[in-house]
Amino acid sequence: MSTFILGIESSCDDTSAAVINETRILSNITASQRVHELYGGVVPELASRAHQQNIIPVIDQALKHANINKNQLNAIAFTNGPGLLGSLLVGASFAKSFAAGLNIPLIETDHINAHILAHFIQPNNGTKEVPKFPFICLLISGGHTQIVLVKDYFSMEILGKTIDDAAGEAFDKSAKIMGIPYPGGPLIDKFALHGNSGKFSFPHPTVSGLDFSFSGLKTSILYFLRDKSKEDVDFIEKNKFDLCASIQKTIIDILLIKLEKAVKQTGINCIAIAGGVSANSGLRKALLLKQIEKNWKVFIPKLEYSTDNAAMIAISGYFKYLKNEFSEQNISPYSRSKK
Ligand code: KG4
Ligand code: ZN
Repeated sequence: MSTFILGIESSCDDTSAAVINETRILSNITASQRVHELYGGVVPELASRAHQQNIIPVIDQALKHANINKNQLNAIAFTNGPGLLGSLLVGASFAKSFAAGLNIPLIETDHINAHILAHFIQPNNGTKEVPKFPFICLLISGGHTQIVLVKDYFSMEILGKTIDDAAGEAFDKSAKIMGIPYPGGPLIDKFALHGNSGKFSFPHPTVSGLDFSFSGLKTSILYFLRDKSKEDVDFIEKNKFDLCASIQKTIIDILLIKLEKAVKQTGINCIAIAGGVSANSGLRKALLLKQIEKNWKVFIPKLEYSTDNAAMIAISGYFKYLKNEFSEQNISPYSRSKK
């Protein structure tokens, strides 16, 4: 008999619900919250309120798109962390009551682990190639930057991580300094397409091993623009495209240098990227070049599975369902990574 899992994601500012039939995706509906643009960043209180407004319509649509009835669901998977506690609580509370009401298992999932497992989502029609274990995943989101050795669905070893800001923060904070609205990452990507990435250069951090650091980049951009703006108040506006292209290239180079190091260190050349920053078009292009240059086997997620989505929660839920890993009703969300 077919297994249907409903996934619910509410860790930050996207309310998302998805239905998966084993590994085949049937629906993936996301309501993004525009309200935060006014404040230049996510306002936790407003995020949880928006989740409360969005969660029922989003789940309703996900079931309708999947063309299934709630009584056909076999389990409910939800994001238990890391993320904003108030936001997580909305998804978790809904998942708990829905599972209890339907008398089906409740499955907690980890948001970071789920970003990586998004690579195993199959389209509803056809089959796509998935990475073989062990592989290396560069996990780059708004809150995390890690190089992960993925040994199995739930056996992952962090080989390196950021010691300060995440790659997504490097994009968003650089954008903020330039007066580009939140979230800056996608806009830097868009503006970079029209700019010269060799126009400006910014220093690379000196961090040992496979760890990253991005806070120095932010400071050097801040001082550079402060000095240039003293000479010409319109410097940023006049050079916006070249600045975006140069900053983006610096972030991509920093990420790829460590990725190459990880390949050398482990001898594994099967590489995946995951998390919101994996949507970056410059990074995607650079990785496809590496695939040819270095003979890597590269896995790039579909855009809808790069940024926050519930499809990745549903697939993680399915793999836990196979292991009978269910959660109790008294489980509570966590804001920070367990590892
Ligand atoms: O995974 P995600 O959606 O949420 C978290 O779990 O944090 O990642 C959000 C991050 C933000 O910092 C956003 O600016 C960045 O991903 N992002 C991008 C792009 N799309 C989203 N950064 C660069 N280029 C993009 N196209
Ligand atoms: Zn995320």
